[in-house]
Amino acid sequence: MTQAQRMYLVLLGVPGAGKGTQARLLEEALGIPQISTGDLFRYNLKNQTELGLLAKSYMDRGDLVPDEVTIRMVEERLARPDCARGAIFDGFPRNLTQAVALDRLTAAGGGIHKAPLVHLEDEEAMRRITGRRVCRTCGAVYHVEFNPPKSPGVCDLDGGELYQRDDDKPETVRNRLYVYYKQTSPLVGYYFAKGLLVQVDGAQPIETVQAQLLELLGVKTPLQG
Ligand code: AP5
Ligand code: MG
Ligand code: ZN
Repeated sequence: MTQAQRMYLVLLGVPGAGKGTQARLLEEALGIPQISTGDLFRYNLKNQTELGLLAKSYMDRGDLVPDEVTIRMVEERLARPDCARGAIFDGFPRNLTQAVALDRLTAAGGGIHKAPLVHLEDEEAMRRITGRRVCRTCGAVYHVEFNPPKSPGVCDLDGGELYQRDDDKPETVRNRLYVYYKQTSPLVGYYFAKGLLVQVDGAQPIETVQAQLLELLGVKTPLQG
């Protein structure tokens, strides 16, 4: 990579595939920030901003927030100094309009480097979402069975309260899956055609998925020497 080039990664996968979990680990491993549009909307909602209240009406149904506001929010986030070496996109882009916008936003930094697809069957994704718990303060993601905190209901990192997302109700999750197949899954073909798609089996343990992602990205883990 030349100096002007940055590492931009796009994580793809159904709701519950583990995008957020893997993005946070990649953030640590690569030293570039995770940009999760879902987290950004939830942060805005917590702070009762206009953007947060607008997003809520869509998120409660499991529908996509309009492109214009979403793209503007990402553009502002990307302009912050911590993105100087790149970013890991999680939950963005979610349709072709957003993907084309992201190509434009990252063009000066060399464009998208890789688009890893974390593959998971819908049934398993539903099971994971049902048991998910999120930290109210730092947004860290847990699972009551697969990735439990050291003490129930409390975040390991900052002692924050763990809660269940409002949109993790079964009927909303079903619509999120529907929206994924209708609007987001065409992006798999979009990045494949550009030669950027890599795939990992998301049904494996969290550490295995992470190690395989790092290998696909050409980053050596300490264990591999
Ligand atoms: P968003 O927050 O992006 O939700 P999502 O896409 O539905 O994805 P999730 O966060 O549910 O799943 P994940 O893949 O991150 O899985 P996680 O790591 O948590 O979006 C929410 C809403 O915001 C949208 O519906 C929309 O309204 C709006 N929105 C967001 N972005 C938008 C955009 N770009 N445009 C328009 N609207 C937008 O893992 C799930 C669970 O499994 C956790 O409990 C975790 O601990 C566990 N787990 C993870 N990996 C493993 C593993 N390997 N083994 C066992 N358990 C695991
Ligand atoms: Mg997520
Ligand atoms: Zn926390």
